Amino acid sequence: MFKHNLLNLDALKEFVCFLHGSWDKEVVMIELLRILKDILGCSRASAYLLDDGEFKLKAKIGGPDLLNSPQAIRQCQALAANFNLDDDIGVPVLLNGDLYIIPLKSPGELYGVVLYEVPKPSQALNDMVSIIATQASAALKNNWLADEKKMINEIISTFNSGPDLQVYYPRFAQKLKQIAPFDRLTITIPEPFYADSLIVYAEDSKNPFSVTRAPYENSAPSWVISTCQPIVENDLSENRNFLEDELLLNSGIRCALRVPLMSRGQVIGSLNIGSETPNAYSQREITLFIEVADRIGPAVENALVYEAINEKLGRALGQLDETFSAVLNALTVLLDKRDTGTKGHSLRVVRYAVAIAENLGVEGRELDDIRLGSLLHDIGKIGIPDSILFKPDKLTDEEWVIMKTHPKLGADIISKLGILSPALPIVLHHHEWFDGYGYPDGLAGGEIPLGARVFTIADAFDAMTSNRPYRKAKSIDEAVTELVRGRGSQFCPVCIDAFMRISLKELTSIYEECQFEVGFKSSCGIE
Ligand SMILES: [Fe+2]
Repeated sequence: MFKHNLLNLDALKEFVCFLHGSWDKEVVMIELLRILKDILGCSRASAYLLDDGEFKLKAKIGGPDLLNSPQAIRQCQALAANFNLDDDIGVPVLLNGDLYIIPLKSPGELYGVVLYEVPKPSQALNDMVSIIATQASAALKNNWLADEKKMINEIISTFNSGPDLQVYYPRFAQKLKQIAPFDRLTITIPEPFYADSLIVYAEDSKNPFSVTRAPYENSAPSWVISTCQPIVENDLSENRNFLEDELLLNSGIRCALRVPLMSRGQVIGSLNIGSETPNAYSQREITLFIEVADRIGPAVENALVYEAINEKLGRALGQLDETFSAVLNALTVLLDKRDTGTKGHSLRVVRYAVAIAENLGVEGRELDDIRLGSLLHDIGKIGIPDSILFKPDKLTDEEWVIMKTHPKLGADIISKLGILSPALPIVLHHHEWFDGYGYPDGLAGGEIPLGARVFTIADAFDAMTSNRPYRKAKSIDEAVTELVRGRGSQFCPVCIDAFMRISLKELTSIYEECQFEVGFKSSCGIE
């Protein structure tokens, strides 16, 4: 007998060692039954794990499943409901004949049950089964904890990809369902200034969710946030404690769980889930939701700060746009007066240049830069003496030298005003010729920035079609013929081809619309 007990002890030690290294629940169950058979001489046994409230068979020895009838299942469930979950040790309970049941559990948690038959039951055997079941339960608990840790890490990882949570919330919600199914999820943040709460994310399996704000006072989130405690309402058809409960019940929700959303030790909101099934959430699931809410809180808070900054930045940029527009419009009037005196010149050349550039496929920021450069092309003339700029007669050679400094003068002005720097290529190079005979740098072909090659055509076309004190305007047809004549010498051939694709109707329209107007509009909202 003593030798037999020593052998049992060795087998038990081996079993415990095996459990410590096992990360598979089903293998734990198989080994559990094997040792019950080897040590206790069990003739029949079945092991079950609790899964979604049901006992699922994971291993059996010596014949069919012992829960093989609805009556047996009901009896097992009734017993399971009465297991003492306060401590680690489970005690075998006689079901009938020589069939026993023992829980696999840890404090507060039931993992499953084992049903087994022993030919000669005794208190000593029951004690041995308790020890074996306790060891197996500890291994199952470790398995569950590892699974939960992995699951929570997967859930949290959905938040680690960037600040725009609207992209990640749906993925988060999907992963969160691995912890426990829900039919409704909301994340709410209080906004005391508005006396309500902001619903930063909502998902409802049946009812489309359009509400972005909810009353705060007397709501469940306000209770959770003020107490920093989770709260579960197991059946809203029996008890409704908060403002929104009636609404939830009417939309089919029976069980509601809310947990505090934490960030850096402070409660910042609440994570709320609801199920159409009463008593849907166990203590284990509530604990997991609390941990998730603890871990995602900082990401939610960061995203809210990011959104707030973006909103303020957007407002600030809007104000900057308005200021910038006012300055540009004033500058346009000034430049038109210091150029030819013809109203609308600046706006027309902008429109012609944009039309050419669009025909070349230019868009977005590059197109905006061409707009700005075209508008400010002659800003350097501010530095040319009036005696030269407004001289009614032909300029002398010396005067021409001074006049030709205006691109460099303009570049100096622009380079001191960072916000206008995109205009620099056109301001500096709008008098370059494609064949290299222009000024100030004598650039040729592709050396000349595209915007400047485009603008040169727009400027020449407008000059030819505008009346000047010393000559009458050419017709559009005559001006186009002149431009084509300069293809490859003064003007870039590709840009001339793009100009030729602009319809006569559009050219006429620009000409007529911009005779007296002053204004500037860009695709980024600058007017
Ligand atoms: Fe110029």
